[in-house]
Amino acid sequence: MIYRDLSAIDFGTQACLAVPRPERVLMTTPEHFDVEYVINAHMAGQIGNVDRNLARRQWDGVRRAFEETGMPVTVVDGAEGFPDMVFCANQTLPVRTPERTAQGAGSAQGAGSAQSADSAHRAVLSRMYALQRRLEVPYFQKFFADADYDVIEDVTLADIAFEGMGDAMWHPGRWLLWGGYGFRTNPAAYDIIDRQLDVPIVLLYLDDPDFYHLDTCLCVLDEDHALAFPGAFESCGYDILKHFFKVVIEVPEREARELFACNATCADGKHVIIQEGSTETCRQLRAHGFTPVEVDTGEFMKSGGSVYCMKQLFW
Ligand code: ARG
Repeated sequence: MIYRDLSAIDFGTQACLAVPRPERVLMTTPEHFDVEYVINAHMAGQIGNVDRNLARRQWDGVRRAFEETGMPVTVVDGAEGFPDMVFCANQTLPVRTPERTAQGAGSAQGAGSAQSADSAHRAVLSRMYALQRRLEVPYFQKFFADADYDVIEDVTLADIAFEGMGDAMWHPGRWLLWGGYGFRTNPAAYDIIDRQLDVPIVLLYLDDPDFYHLDTCLCVLDEDHALAFPGAFESCGYDILKHFFKVVIEVPEREARELFACNATCADGKHVIIQEGSTETCRQLRAHGFTPVEVDTGEFMKSGGSVYCMKQLFW
């Protein structure tokens, strides 16, 4: 079911099925990372400006931060000719089906079907908006197929733009999907995903070019808390966020726009890995019981991404 207005929403997170939080992190090595073209506002003026050695050290720092907070990191090698492949949040949407669906649909349904409803682990493949990134997707298709995930290709085959976890985000611990659209993802992709997964999806419209993916202006922390930059949302979108999260921590404009403070990741419900220098955001996080872990992603910010985009969470 797709929701766009608060008036149509008569439930909270408690009414959504419980789903375990992902316990694994996927990252893609940065040896081919660069800014070679401009497909978002942050990349303008940055072609040829990436220091690859520094990028490698920063990438190692992000990886270490995940490992030190207890999240094992699995690595897919970057491929030549794909300077944005390092942003591995974008090519897929990993799915963990809630127990009730998994059991209910069980053995009675066609066991051989690759997309039968009884599979607990699935991965929706993206259809990248920019041509330059389209052929990154097969690398992650292979990764998830090898990991015994059922790979769902419907959005790709329908040729409808969808950029995975850059725009689609699971509500922590719940069978509820947040769906950003406006720059990259075509909202029609969410109709296809809903048909495949039968999941409540709340759409959020984005219209500020600095915040071209949902993950640039919203960071879900745990079931009750999120970080967000209000200016990136229509007022009704921000009201919907406040309906589902008990606390929405407002990120100041400078930290959101220049430091990608919302492009942080809280994988374990406690540690928040975040671009260093996001002082006010970190102060607020501490005040709400979270532990910020600051890392430098400066080279990756030249391409329009920070911590969140540099990893994928899966089960
Ligand atoms: N240069 C990449 C692009 O424009 C950056 C992607 C960042 N990823 C993200 N999830 N925000 O596609």
